[in-house]
Amino acid sequence: MAGRVAGKKAFITGGAQGLGAAMARKLADEGAKVSVADINHEGAKAVAAEINAACGEGVAFAFPLDVTKEDQWIYALEEADAAMGGISVLINNAGISRAGNIEQLSYEDWKLVMSVNVDSVFLGTKHALKYMRDHQPGSIINISSIAGLIAAHNSPVYNASKAGVWLLSKGIALHCAKQGLDIRSNSIHPTFIDTPILDPLRQQFGTEVAHGKLARQIPLGHIGEPEDIANAALYLASDESKFMTGAELKLDGGISAM
Ligand SMILES: NC(=O)c1ccc[n+]([C@@H]2O[C@H](COP(=O)([O-])OP(=O)(O)OC[C@H]3O[C@@H](n4cnc5c(N)ncnc54)[C@H](O)[C@@H]3O)[C@@H](O)[C@H]2O)c1
Repeated sequence: MAGRVAGKKAFITGGAQGLGAAMARKLADEGAKVSVADINHEGAKAVAAEINAACGEGVAFAFPLDVTKEDQWIYALEEADAAMGGISVLINNAGISRAGNIEQLSYEDWKLVMSVNVDSVFLGTKHALKYMRDHQPGSIINISSIAGLIAAHNSPVYNASKAGVWLLSKGIALHCAKQGLDIRSNSIHPTFIDTPILDPLRQQFGTEVAHGKLARQIPLGHIGEPEDIANAALYLASDESKFMTGAELKLDGGISAM
């Protein structure tokens, strides 16, 4: 099959909606097989069914996965490897946020966000490399955030977790290079993108006011679309980015240029 990622086999966490679903659709459109994994198994199944309807049966598969659970990772990767005939791309995308400044945030919320956002990348990469070794060249794509590079007064755990993902990506890149593996690892750093993750803000202020508040922080003057991030993931998943590892792609409408 033709396409920029023809023959690639991608495992995508948090694929039931938002950026994960957009990346799964994009990679499938460009010739990859995709495994959509999510704690929301019904949502993952719906995305996989939609992809198969558009691209043909056997292109997309869905798996239940809580990215904080090592045993679930081991099982889902084994199943995905068998279903797709290998794994060559891992997209660690599942992530959450919890509101509250350093004095307000509960320790429970701290641990939950660190676990979903950072433990997931550790566990997923640790266990996926076993399969990816057999399907080189490979690419690990970790969805961090511009909030992993720039702090705010009211998001300590999101900042800390996404900064952790940023440097963990580099450590993984150097490990793979040192091992002589043709497996690259990079991070993507979006600013506000129009996905359900923004729903709490939209519910609080209404969509127009909420989007306006976010857009005012962005030099380009508007929030991003899932497609903006999916295009970056497509580049990183493809061999077009074969000399890029240990790097970060900032898709922030210019925020970090200020
Ligand atoms: N949308 C944005 O504005 C934005 C900006 C920067 C970074 N990000 C990051 O992009 C990633 C995707 O965000 P999104 O906007 O698509 O969010 P979203 O809330 O729309 O989707 C997140 C998905 O992750 C899944 N998920 C949550 N906890 C999970 C768990 N423990 N195990 C498995 N799956 C789990 C959810 O079920 C959901 O399908 C996240 O890591 C997020 O931090 C998003």
